[in-house]
Amino acid sequence: MSEEQNKLFERAAEAREKAVAPFSGFQVGAALLTETGEIFTGCNIENASYGLTMCAERVAIFKAVSEGARSFEKICVVADTEDLTPPCGACRQIIWEFCGNIEIVLTNLHGKIETMQMSELFPRAFDAKFLE
Ligand code: THU
Repeated sequence: MSEEQNKLFERAAEAREKAVAPFSGFQVGAALLTETGEIFTGCNIENASYGLTMCAERVAIFKAVSEGARSFEKICVVADTEDLTPPCGACRQIIWEFCGNIEIVLTNLHGKIETMQMSELFPRAFDAKFLE
């Protein structure tokens, strides 16, 4: 793991500790790296009205966008699963919208890591080009 990757993983793992997941018990952390080297983190935040739950990836992206960040390089996602946890469908749409074809780094707490491009995870996306 490169130093940059290690830093991103550490920040995602730290964020995961802050997860609010009383219903699922499933904690997720995300760390989003901007093109200028800034890192925005997020954890999942659940709600008694389950559908209002917000995933770690979207929390990180909305934090970044609301702070004015617009160009992103990669996002690291960490969960405590043997099969690495990928972003859910809603998050894929949001990642595509705000980050485009960035690198997605899936990790777990035991050093397993897999990297892919967003276009592999989310082929033939519906996006703003259809609205022109
Ligand atoms: N979750 C995330 O935060 N990110 C993912 O990539 C998958 C799912 C959260 C949502 C919910 O709080 C819990 O994990 C179980 O679905």
